[in-house]
Amino acid sequence: MTSINEDSSSDNERKVSYILNLLGKKVPTSKENDDNDDKDEDYEDIMTDEDIYTLDSLQQLIASVYNSKSRFNPELNSRDEYTSQTTDTQYETELSILESFKDHPNEQFLQQQHLKYIKGSLHSQFPSYFSALDANHSWMLLWLLNGFKVIKQNDQSLSPETIELINNKIESCIIDEGRGGISGGANQIGHVASTYAAILTLILTKNYTLLEKLRNNLYSWFLSLKKPDGSFVMHKNGESDARSIYCVLAVSSLLNTLTDELLLGLESWLNSCQTFEGGFSGVPKTEAHGGYTYCAVASYFILFSKKSKICFDLDALIRWSVFRQYSIEGGLSGRTNKLVDACYSFWIGALYPMIEVLVGEHDMFNRDGLKTYILKAAQNFDKGGFRDKPGKSTDFYHTNYTLCGLSLCEYKYKSFSDDDSEEELAYRFQLDNDNDNGNDSDYKNTNPINPIFGLPINDINEAKKHFIKLSKPI
Ligand code: FPP
Ligand code: ZN
Repeated sequence: MTSINEDSSSDNERKVSYILNLLGKKVPTSKENDDNDDKDEDYEDIMTDEDIYTLDSLQQLIASVYNSKSRFNPELNSRDEYTSQTTDTQYETELSILESFKDHPNEQFLQQQHLKYIKGSLHSQFPSYFSALDANHSWMLLWLLNGFKVIKQNDQSLSPETIELINNKIESCIIDEGRGGISGGANQIGHVASTYAAILTLILTKNYTLLEKLRNNLYSWFLSLKKPDGSFVMHKNGESDARSIYCVLAVSSLLNTLTDELLLGLESWLNSCQTFEGGFSGVPKTEAHGGYTYCAVASYFILFSKKSKICFDLDALIRWSVFRQYSIEGGLSGRTNKLVDACYSFWIGALYPMIEVLVGEHDMFNRDGLKTYILKAAQNFDKGGFRDKPGKSTDFYHTNYTLCGLSLCEYKYKSFSDDDSEEELAYRFQLDNDNDNGNDSDYKNTNPINPIFGLPINDINEAKKHFIKLSKPI
């Protein structure tokens, strides 16, 4: 790449023309593109390349995949004439997803393959390239175990040997009985995110004895990570953002160790992360993103027991959230002008039921559209497991969060009406069976989850019931 000082005047002209294009001032014709033989490599891939795709080919594919009765009207997919790297990759993604829909028109949920993928991964030695995930041991256990439990099956239990294996691994990452938190791997320092993953895993293995031993020590460790502005650092000398707030709140709420001291300043800190778009950023004054929006909104559900306490701009959040579902793909993106990715089936997907229970509506997203993306584009049709999108490889993270997203498509929750309840909003999710038609197409492949924690609703309710009996730290 040339530096600014070395720019030739023709380079500058091209850059100005490119910016004008983006602003809609001038459209490059394909003739201009062809003539532009010496164009700067950096700008090459933003030019229209008629060989890769055409609008016609896209529309033909849409028409062959979606029939005339479908909610999709190809005519509505009008296109901006101006192209950029962003629009190029968006078109290419749409094409590859439509191809996948076409190749798998009747794809069903591949339950046995997914179970084989998960069980096989829990029991086999990881290949050497997994060394890059050495700080993520508790996360990997959470994703595999939770994925297993979210899949609906006749026998939901794992063998005692597997449970022991998981518990032992988590125990090996606990630092000084929780006084230093829980690390992501052996000989590493405690980290709030790996602590969150470890505690949720122990909730899934129902190791309440160990959790009882840890809860007060973890509470003190969390307090030691609290900053004067209310937020928490991820680890000693680490960064603080909406993730660390959510992780601390989720663990402390489940273990019943939330105190006023821990909660101090959190509400206003989170409020300062809502952006002009309506979603939330990780830290104030940055871009709204699905992962951080999930953390922020789920945090409010843990913080509040009254619907009326919701203090952010809900209308703006609704607007931003509904724009995350794309009409051709049916899947969800994490931020404006970015591509669909199956993991957002949970990070964004979980926002919809949170909004639905607050506003008393059931249609914040198109459940069939997302289910189509999950089953016909994100499934690994050979080996089981799920992936971001066609062409990407399958992994534990996408497998878990896509399964959670599928569960969100398959169940609806009763709206929250009782404002007199003292119970936090996080624990008020109940299935709305009245809105379940009960016909064959409504067959459930998954178990219902609690959207605030992403775990099966039964595991959350059982843990809550257990720890509520224990006294809070003083
Ligand atoms: C990709 O960003 C990031 C993700 C896909 C994960 C985001 C999730 C979180 C921040 C939530 C973490 C939650 C906990 C509980 C720790 P990108 O910029 O690569 O992808 P994009 O193009 O889709 O924005
Ligand atoms: Zn992803």
